[in-house]
Amino acid sequence: MSIAASPFNVWIIFVLVLAMGAISPIAEARAFFIFGDSLVDSGNNNYLATTARADSPPYGVDYPTRRPTGRFSNGLNIPDIIIFGLVYTGVVNSYTEVKVGLHRHRKWLCQSWSCVGVDLVSSGQQIGQSQPPLPYLSPQLTGQRLLVGANFASAGIGILNDTGVQFLNIIRMFRQLDYFEEYQRRLSAIVGPQQTRQLVNQALVLVTVGGNDFVNNYYLVPFSARSRQFALPDYVKYLISEYSKLLMRLYKLGARRVLVTGTGPMGCVPAELATRGTNGGCSAELQRAAALYNPQLLNMLQGLNKKIGKNVFIGVNTQQMHTDFISNPQTFGFTTSQAACCGQGPNNGLGLCTRLSNLCPNRDLYAFWDAFHPSEKACRIIVQQIMSGSANYMTPMNLSTIMALDSMS
Ligand SMILES: *[C@@H]1O[C@H](CO)[C@@H](O)[C@H](O)[C@H]1NC(C)=O
Ligand SMILES: *[C@@H]1O[C@H](CO)[C@@H](O)[C@H](O)[C@H]1NC(C)=O
Repeated sequence: MSIAASPFNVWIIFVLVLAMGAISPIAEARAFFIFGDSLVDSGNNNYLATTARADSPPYGVDYPTRRPTGRFSNGLNIPDIIIFGLVYTGVVNSYTEVKVGLHRHRKWLCQSWSCVGVDLVSSGQQIGQSQPPLPYLSPQLTGQRLLVGANFASAGIGILNDTGVQFLNIIRMFRQLDYFEEYQRRLSAIVGPQQTRQLVNQALVLVTVGGNDFVNNYYLVPFSARSRQFALPDYVKYLISEYSKLLMRLYKLGARRVLVTGTGPMGCVPAELATRGTNGGCSAELQRAAALYNPQLLNMLQGLNKKIGKNVFIGVNTQQMHTDFISNPQTFGFTTSQAACCGQGPNNGLGLCTRLSNLCPNRDLYAFWDAFHPSEKACRIIVQQIMSGSANYMTPMNLSTIMALDSMS
């Protein structure tokens, strides 16, 4: 991935953007709100006293700044790529007009790939709003920056309050929603309640949570409290019912387009292959959990949509997306999907990814960056499916369809 741009290029693009008046119409931009766990956290945990953090190298080794940010990735994560995604896929020839990210009506002139580079490299320069929302706890999230949205996600959390207790101080789901309310009060003080409501109603929302309720709760230790309380099928039912309450609260807070991801094939991540692989393969128990959970999640979302009378909740079949490149890594350009790029021990799947870990030279060849989290390259493949996947991947429709529908209304 080449993202370097010379200062000269940056300047040219900046002038072009000014000339096109692309900076001013803030009301046209679509805000983006993110809730969930480490798969989508962009740095909230940096501000907390917790052990669930990704703010030291080699995290961020492929990020535009080459520095750790708190994202659990070698580079960009899924929300980042949703924002930048259309740029990457939309640029074909010199001076092609493309729509940037989720911003309706906004166009940039791009010379080949160079505006992509400018966009990323200049993410600190506040060119328009083509930037991922800041972590909610970031002190920089004030004033105009609030209009882009906010990222409330916090690594280690789950649907349940007792998930991730070992990480101490993290922002649990109910608290993320409390913060969303607080956000709306803060925004309201700047643009008024009516515009706040409109911004929230028109926003895109992403929720990624649930994996930790298995990995960092039910299966964390043998005979965990939850596994003594519930047989697996009953635990899954309980999770789904608690999750539906959280999603309804999100709806009541104004969210109207919500992408809800399922869990990946949890038994096949390098950490599980290393610690509880069955006959050298994926962990049968965690695979069973994913197989029970994901279809019920989808049912629950469809039920909520029916109740509301609109397609508010969009199911993202991350299990299928991950399974594609786990069962056929070469097709996607990966040399392996069984070993993490950064880690130690079997499958590079034990312990944390730190400066002392083995680090692969080319992150694009690995489906997994660390023992649990996909590489930036894998995130790109996932977002491609989110954008344009068939109904098997995106239920009832993909993000490009949603954006087309919403821009008409
Ligand atoms: C989680 O904790 C909060 C605050 O104590 C509480 O309001 C909420 O009901 C709890 N959620 C569940 C599912 O127990
Ligand atoms: C998904 O997006 C593509 C456009 O990229 C479209 O052709 C296709 O029909 C969509 N599929 C569904 C199921 O919405």
